[in-house]
Amino acid sequence: MNDLYGDPWLYDLQHDGYRDDLHFYRRLAEDQAGAVLELGAGTGRVTLALAALGLPVVAVEPHPAMRARAAQRLHAAAEHDPGLAARIRLIDADARTLALEERFALVLAPFNTLMHLERLDDQDAALTRAREHLDDGGAFACDVYVPRLGNDAVVRAEPAWSGLAGEQADLLVWQHHDPVQQVVLSHQRLDEVGADGLLRRRRATLRQRYFQRFELERALRAAGFVDVRCYGDFDRGPVREASSVWAFVARG
Ligand SMILES: C[S@@+](CC[C@H](N)C(=O)[O-])C[C@H]1O[C@@H](n2cnc3c(N)ncnc32)[C@H](O)[C@@H]1O
Repeated sequence: MNDLYGDPWLYDLQHDGYRDDLHFYRRLAEDQAGAVLELGAGTGRVTLALAALGLPVVAVEPHPAMRARAAQRLHAAAEHDPGLAARIRLIDADARTLALEERFALVLAPFNTLMHLERLDDQDAALTRAREHLDDGGAFACDVYVPRLGNDAVVRAEPAWSGLAGEQADLLVWQHHDPVQQVVLSHQRLDEVGADGLLRRRRATLRQRYFQRFELERALRAAGFVDVRCYGDFDRGPVREASSVWAFVARG
């Protein structure tokens, strides 16, 4: 159902410019000062930022189209900075079944990646594998958005993102929320008028299983993490009513 990941161009149009979380993950990587494992690397937004610090990064991405786009970006980055690309290893694997030989100073699941683990067994498996890949003194970090969901099925325009696609483009987004399953299905339509005057439509959906704060904290503890901290922003501020993200840091 996550066919937004089948259209990495549309994914990047919306998300590649997102920078709010980068200082949070950079600071952790600098503090941990060792190899990084990123789960759900997508098109490499966080991966490239961390490798730019001089650290080796293993980037796990199971979706072939997202991985291909990340590989392209690595290739492009290598032309300017061969060392940076050499520090990144992009692999096809699933966080739930990951079994690498190496251990890492930092394991990350940035930008809602855990929200693709719908079943409790999937969450437990991925978090347990994440902890198993930490070396002594290693840290795990992730972030998920606070589920403050709008009106079901009400269409909204996204002019900022449409603008990136060109003057003749409109991006429309709407969501269906299933409160029983804690699932949000986001639908997107990008309409563009080509030079030939014809309308072209791209469609995508994204299915996410949202968390509540203490639910994720409990899942981290159940997977064996200790010293679990939940922040209400990427500056490590406290959780507040207005927080839009929960950013977690835990120890293995
Ligand atoms: C919202 S994107 C985040 C991408 C990137 N970390 C970023 O910050 O831009 C979530 C990514 O997690 C990946 N993903 C989904 N299920 C996964 C799993 N079981 N194991 C590892 N990655 C997964 C998706 O393919 C997608 O690329």
